Amino acid sequence: MRVRGIALVAAVAFATTMVITLKGFSAAPEKVTIDAVKKVKPAVVLNHGKHAKDIAKGNCAECHHKWDKASGKEPRKCTTCHKAKKEGNTPAAKTIFHKKCKDCHKKNKAKGAPTSCKGCHKK
Ligand code: HEC
Ligand code: HEC
Ligand code: HEC
Ligand code: HEC
Repeated sequence: MRVRGIALVAAVAFATTMVITLKGFSAAPEKVTIDAVKKVKPAVVLNHGKHAKDIAKGNCAECHHKWDKASGKEPRKCTTCHKAKKEGNTPAAKTIFHKKCKDCHKKNKAKGAPTSCKGCHKK
């Protein structure tokens, strides 16, 4: 059931994304599962919609730092560049996620942002 639930959520999110894309608005997904380098820790589910709208107040570049808004294209996944291992001057995925996500969470502990491993890496 849990798996079907997640598949359904993903399907709905995808459908919504498609509708929004066709309308020509930015297609920020509601939820994203970050699992590109998953090996020892469970995948991390990011409430993307809440982070984009309520927390970053629509400033996508807060996280999508290489996004060229003027290009008219959607932001790309972090993991298209940040791989399991550092490549050239591009830091590894674990490094940037921990830096980006944890730094802000430490500042927002009082607002309920998780800082423990289990808070993000949920089983
Ligand atoms: C604020 C959220 C957050 C917290 C807190 C956090 N992580 Fe992560 N971590 C991530 C994200 C996102 C990734 C990338 C996951 C992926 O792509 O598979 C990651 C990746 C990792 C990876 C590499 C992937 C793997 O499974 O080998 C390890 C190891 C890891 N974290 C360990 C930890 C440990 C240990 C703690 C606690 C001290 C911790 N993390 C706390 C968000 C977090
Ligand atoms: C708190 C950080 C954060 C903010 C703010 C944010 N995003 Fe994201 N976004 C992410 C992460 C993390 C991913 C998943 C990256 C990965 O899997 O490598 C993602 C994924 C996406 C994807 C999916 C890319 C793909 O190819 O699947 C799109 C589209 C996107 N974001 C658009 C937006 C837009 C538009 C905004 C602003 C309205 C925004 N994001 C704000 C962190 C953020
Ligand atoms: C087009 C490739 C590309 C994409 C997509 C990308 N990055 Fe990066 N990122 C880089 C490169 C290259 C660097 C090295 C410094 C620089 O050039 O800014 C970097 C540096 C960083 C750093 C600084 C690390 C440090 O040690 O100071 C953070 C944090 C970061 N990226 C987070 C993200 C997040 C989060 C996403 C997705 C929401 C993302 N990046 C998407 C290429 C990318
Ligand atoms: C700009 C600050 C900021 C950044 C960057 C950020 N977060 Fe958060 N996050 C918050 C705040 C504030 C909360 C708690 C507020 C709330 O839940 O309404 C939160 C809550 C969460 C929660 C628990 C509640 C929920 O919504 O599911 C998870 C999981 C989470 N963040 C994951 C991440 C991951 C993974 C990243 C990096 C890709 C990230 N966050 C980046 C500020 C941030």
